[in-house]
Amino acid sequence: MEEAPRSKKRHLLLAFAVLLLPLALAGCAESTSPQAWFGRPESDFARILQGLFDRIILIATIVFVVVEGILFIALFRFRRRPGQGLPSQTHGNTQLEIGWTIVPAVALAFVAVPTVRAIFETYHPDTTNTVKVQVIGHQWWWEFRYPDLGIVTANEPHFPVGQKATLTIESADVIHGFWIPGLGGKRDAIPTRVNELWWTPEKTGEYYGQCTQLCATSHANMRIRAFVDDQNGWNAWVNAMKSANGSQPAPDVQRGYQLFTTNACVGCHTIQGTPANGQVGPNLTRFGARTTFGAGLYQNTQENVTSWILDPQAAKPGNKMPNLHLSEEDASAIAAYLRSLK
Ligand code: CUA
Repeated sequence: MEEAPRSKKRHLLLAFAVLLLPLALAGCAESTSPQAWFGRPESDFARILQGLFDRIILIATIVFVVVEGILFIALFRFRRRPGQGLPSQTHGNTQLEIGWTIVPAVALAFVAVPTVRAIFETYHPDTTNTVKVQVIGHQWWWEFRYPDLGIVTANEPHFPVGQKATLTIESADVIHGFWIPGLGGKRDAIPTRVNELWWTPEKTGEYYGQCTQLCATSHANMRIRAFVDDQNGWNAWVNAMKSANGSQPAPDVQRGYQLFTTNACVGCHTIQGTPANGQVGPNLTRFGARTTFGAGLYQNTQENVTSWILDPQAAKPGNKMPNLHLSEEDASAIAAYLRSLK
């Protein structure tokens, strides 16, 4: 008598879960900070990986269909029928055993040969005439250094279209994973080690990336937004970065500049041309030219930057920036100054 209501309850729960599913999946499509996704290769490196992926998926699909097909045929054809006795018992079949050893070995060879080829193709790039970028993973943001150009920035690297970039991947603390699927990757950022990566971007645009190694509290908030510029855009970016001087603020953001350079901000952040030369947090040179901040978490708006400064821990749990207990007015002035650095 108890059975009926209980199973009804279970069905209701199931229906509820199914109804909630679209809501849960909708979370994946959040538009303010899109997640990285593969399947749209836009560089030579990414194409090598995508080609390998497509090939292995094809082989795996063929194996799946054949194996499951044979299984289903066997289940239906040889099922027990009413009045049937025990079927004849057999043991050992040399032909069959040789067959099911050779066929998987051949299938694996079709996977192994292109895989090994791709490993060799994607290692140890030739670095002559390339854009050199030093990538350093931090808890929880990415530092990008262009040693030949004297440029340092955070979370939003730029690359010129059609020119090969060679990257070295390092970590300042724990293991991170550097991955911008549209351009290539991924490579882990491992303390005391230097990994290599390279790519030649084929198309201008924005490319999203994501840390792929669980690196504690804000791992999910450690994103990358890479920009591939045309030659003019790239030259303009390089020149603006090199000539950036944050110590000449416009009159209306003068107060923000004073607050920034007289508070603890300068101990952790660098702004080119100012007394701020801290190395703990992201370099804020030309911060106003970035579309997002907090490692791709927030749109770079006056409101968002102000609330970050007012309570950094609420904005991104676990990050190293302390709450300076500034008034809303002061935080807003600092935000205005930072956003004026274009
Ligand atoms: Cu860095 Cu996960």
